[in-house]
Amino acid sequence: MSKPVPIHATMDQFAVEKNDLLVGGKTLNHIEDMLDKSVFYAYDKNIVKQQIDLFHQAIPQEIKLHYAIKANPYPPLVNAMRDWVEGFDVASQKEMLLAVQSGMPVNDISFAGPSKQIAEIRAAITAGVTLHVESELELQRAIDIGQQIGILPIVAFRVNPAFELKASGMKMGGGPKQFGIDEERLLEILPNLDYQTFSFRGFHIYWGSQNLKEEAIIDAHNKTFDLAKRLIDVVPVKTLTVNIGGGFGIPYFAGEKRLDLAPIGENLQRLLSDYPILAELELIIELGRFLVAEAGIYASRITDKKQSRGHTYLMTNGGLHHHLSNSGNFGQVIRKNYPVAIGNKMGIEKDATAVTAVGPLCTPLDTLADKMLLTDPQIGDWLVVFQSGAYGPTASPQDFLGHPHVVEILL
Ligand SMILES: Cc1ncc(COP(=O)(O)O)c(C=O)c1O
Repeated sequence: MSKPVPIHATMDQFAVEKNDLLVGGKTLNHIEDMLDKSVFYAYDKNIVKQQIDLFHQAIPQEIKLHYAIKANPYPPLVNAMRDWVEGFDVASQKEMLLAVQSGMPVNDISFAGPSKQIAEIRAAITAGVTLHVESELELQRAIDIGQQIGILPIVAFRVNPAFELKASGMKMGGGPKQFGIDEERLLEILPNLDYQTFSFRGFHIYWGSQNLKEEAIIDAHNKTFDLAKRLIDVVPVKTLTVNIGGGFGIPYFAGEKRLDLAPIGENLQRLLSDYPILAELELIIELGRFLVAEAGIYASRITDKKQSRGHTYLMTNGGLHHHLSNSGNFGQVIRKNYPVAIGNKMGIEKDATAVTAVGPLCTPLDTLADKMLLTDPQIGDWLVVFQSGAYGPTASPQDFLGHPHVVEILL
């Protein structure tokens, strides 16, 4: 058996009372009673608000904050965030309807995605949201549909930049990509488009996600401003908006630290004075997990405990079918543990043992925590996975093996 992995310590965002973890002021037992369920996701709206405040404290106020709903589309959360952010980015018709019905002005909703279907394009044009157009054919389709229904489509071009985000969990720009139109091709076609056939809004320059390196984000911002200026220079009509990407990460694994937004904000301030042509436009940063991931936990009950050749296994009523990303199967190359703790024994150091917590699925992939030091875990205790507010239920194969779906609550 290899060495146990220590508990990772980015769990200080939640209050603890008499060793009980509190989410929005409630213990896990309280939440169980409220939901009548012993496995759930719970999100603390104050922590979401704190993350948004952190953003605004560090990032120049000229730059607007949009929430990428894909990170967590739980309707009560989206509705709460409607008053805290300046726009929503959506990636499907369902997300678009959620965004529109939250009351967010349609002018502040954008629709991105590399394979938009005709019905989605029509829905977006009819609703009046901005289409982040990702191919030349998609532009033509938007124009044709706009003519059929008599509404001018609002279009921003998603750009696949020539540069790529360094040191990132997920790169979505640079080299050949399915996202957006290559910058060199866009520079070629922009001067000759028929700007009477659509309402031109601007550019969406998105290069990646889950980045914890301030220097890499600063480098991407420098390159984004330079690219945006070159694009604006060749468009014969006025550019109104540039979405300068997102990518702010959160610490999931041992050794990772929270991103320091201060140098990123200082650099953006400098860029605003170096590029006056951009400073006078609407500039947007689009974030998902940075705003919501740390605000969420996934809690399940330990229902059995057994030894296998000297190692302790905890069985729980939660698993991969609810939380694929924690199982390591949502884009990770090597599985690492998210921060995990016993939610009713917080702050107790004694009797910590190295254990592996698993779910009910008959696959070794269904691992919630592998060889982690947990405090005196017993049947009936709460197993809590932190950093679970993004890419949870909707990014998990909930029907796999037919176990019950998970419930959520915003507190
Ligand atoms: C276009 C776009 N915007 C926003 C996001 C959200 O990323 P994150 O949750 O890491 O902020 C993604 C992630 O896939 C994306 O593709």
